[in-house]
Amino acid sequence: MAFADYQNEIYLNGLGGVLPSFPMDFAELEARAQAALPPSVWSYVAGGAGDEHTQRANIAAFGRWGLIPRMFVGASQRDLTVEMFGMTLPSPVFLAPIGVIGLCAQDGHGDLATARAAARTGVPMIASTLSVDPMERVADELGDTPGFFQLYTPTDRGLAESLVHRAERVGYKGIVVTLDTWITGWRPRDLATSNFPQLRGHCLANYTSDPVFRAGLNRPPEDDPQAAILHWTQIFGNPLTWKDLGWLRSLTDLPLIVKGICHPEDARRARDAGVDAIYCSNHGGRQANGGLPALNVLPAVVEAADGLPVLFDSGVRSGADVVKALALGASAVGIGRPYAYGCALGGTDGIVHVLRALLAEADLIMAVDGYPTLEDLVPEALQAV
Ligand SMILES: Cc1cc2nc3c(=O)[nH]c(=O)nc-3n(C[C@H](O)[C@H](O)[C@H](O)COP(=O)(O)O)c2cc1C
Repeated sequence: MAFADYQNEIYLNGLGGVLPSFPMDFAELEARAQAALPPSVWSYVAGGAGDEHTQRANIAAFGRWGLIPRMFVGASQRDLTVEMFGMTLPSPVFLAPIGVIGLCAQDGHGDLATARAAARTGVPMIASTLSVDPMERVADELGDTPGFFQLYTPTDRGLAESLVHRAERVGYKGIVVTLDTWITGWRPRDLATSNFPQLRGHCLANYTSDPVFRAGLNRPPEDDPQAAILHWTQIFGNPLTWKDLGWLRSLTDLPLIVKGICHPEDARRARDAGVDAIYCSNHGGRQANGGLPALNVLPAVVEAADGLPVLFDSGVRSGADVVKALALGASAVGIGRPYAYGCALGGTDGIVHVLRALLAEADLIMAVDGYPTLEDLVPEALQAV
């Protein structure tokens, strides 16, 4: 079945009097998620660093590119499959790691909802270190769809190793090391409400279930949650330097992917140090309000990656955005906030809807504009507007 067929399903349902229950555009998705989520979760998910200029710039950057329509192509069949890490994936889209996705679901188990959505759509999930349910439970729900484990590298190297080896044991297909969040950026929305979910004990299951973490506590976290939270604050953030990359590489034979790379020199150096993929992202403008949209740095990072896969996220809100990021060289495109909003509205069903809608739009743009394969989506297919 082509991704575009989602629209036929919706129109046919309409003939039977059934209208879509989930929003068809991002603005309504966002507005309904705001209404559905508790205010503290909403502001944590929707908010970003500083006055959120970078966050808006990430989105605006897509508007500065247009895909040039090509005719007489007859793109009746499109191929969106992508080869990566020795796997064939049905589409070049993935679920970016979202640390509080657990809290976004009405039942408080959004990590599991996301894994089930991955299972249903074939869209890989990158599971965050910060989750309500431990990574083993999340892996159980992935079905045949690949999952990746995102590591926030703790200062305790033994704990880092333990997390990575747990991920290996339950079949995650790669380790994504996030580099831009060893310290939390200045987030006025969260500061104004003094709201930091982890400090309230949320989303720490991967730690409290870990033997190395538990060994660092005097009493089990079930008996003394405050002490566990305090210990977590002491080990969470590791300001990694290039000297640490060799150690990270030595932790696993799984593909190693470094997230947060925005400079070509960093991409080159990471490549030389043996990473398997570069993940170009500015964390959706949540970390530093530096002002540069992630999309702007993507082409130079792709060039420096010199053939290594480049994953990309930050500001993707539509199928059109997916197509543009691919044309600018991304090997795969990460969806962030939109699926958190889908999760808020309908758990697994809401996330599946968001993914299917994005993929249907991307597929239809490729059909209408005459770009039947991902290889056709090259920088020359775009014009600056
Ligand atoms: C609420 C929230 C929590 C996030 N948690 C994580 C995380 O745990 N690990 C990580 O690497 N990135 C995390 N991110 C960043 C996303 O992986 C991704 O880079 C970002 O959402 C992309 O920006 P966009 O959502 O505006 O498209 C988080 C993003 C949001 C919105």
